[in-house]
Amino acid sequence: MTRPTVVVTREVFDDVIGLLREQADVVDNPDDTPLTPAQLTERAAGADALVCALTDRIDATLLQAAPRLRVVANIAVGHNNIDLAACTARGVLATNTPGVLDETTADFAWALLLGVARRLTEAERYLREGRWLGWQLKQLAGADVHGATLGIVGMGRIGQAIARRAAGFRMNVLYCNRTRLPESTEQALGARWVDQAALLAQADFVLLMVPYSPATHHLIGAAELAAMKPSAFLINTARGGVVDDGTLIEALASRRIAGAALDVFEGEPAFDRRFLDLDNVVLSPHIASSSVATRRAMAMLAARNALAALRGETPPNLLNPAALQGPGIR
Ligand code: DGY
Repeated sequence: MTRPTVVVTREVFDDVIGLLREQADVVDNPDDTPLTPAQLTERAAGADALVCALTDRIDATLLQAAPRLRVVANIAVGHNNIDLAACTARGVLATNTPGVLDETTADFAWALLLGVARRLTEAERYLREGRWLGWQLKQLAGADVHGATLGIVGMGRIGQAIARRAAGFRMNVLYCNRTRLPESTEQALGARWVDQAALLAQADFVLLMVPYSPATHHLIGAAELAAMKPSAFLINTARGGVVDDGTLIEALASRRIAGAALDVFEGEPAFDRRFLDLDNVVLSPHIASSSVATRRAMAMLAARNALAALRGETPPNLLNPAALQGPGIR
């Protein structure tokens, strides 16, 4: 029996490649060079499975050029890089990696929140640039986190992991979400469900944890920033595009809000360079889930999803069960 071919689009861990090789021939990318759409299409042409990343756009054109493809296994929980409808139409299964990155992402959301509140990156720049001449009472004075109001927009697994950590800071936690959580979960988290307008008006820290979709495109724009307290901070660990970055830059520059901390950007890895001129923003390059253990777990889960599909099983993290019915338009 011919072995299936798995194309792994980015560098992963050796044990992940090892697992795939037990059941398949593997075309990997140990140099981690991001593939252009043309290179990705060329590799996908001979693939039975793609283990891919959010840097790979999986759309109808690519799928058309990949007649053998049975599964697209994203190494991410977010999957806005995959056209799910196009996958379903061709009977291609699509999977993601929920569950394994919640705690690590929540840790990092807190690193951003604390960093911007206490001006950590600004303080480090100050020190490294030799500007520290001695102690001053008001030196780099920031905002208190303990006792403040945290507003979480998007209360899925990661939002809940973020909320759990707020108890240690004795924060007042508000959240908004498409669906309200069961009362027992709200009580366990100490979180109160409010609408977005109330959350924006009351929160000292507005933290975004929603998936990106047309419905969440520019969820935070001029009106929402205007609705926030001038002393409030915005933290985006969700996806670029959820915030209108150009408008945010204006709000930060004019001190309409106190600050922001961003792990994701519209059009990343490109981002609006005007952010670099602002002291009241903490910037990081989409690393919220990046602990060694978690990135390994994500890649391993993607590999397991791909292998399950190749064995004819339903992969554990299937996003488009309708694709199990087979191709509609091949
Ligand atoms: C995800 O899993 O969606 C993360 O953004 C990947 O880093």
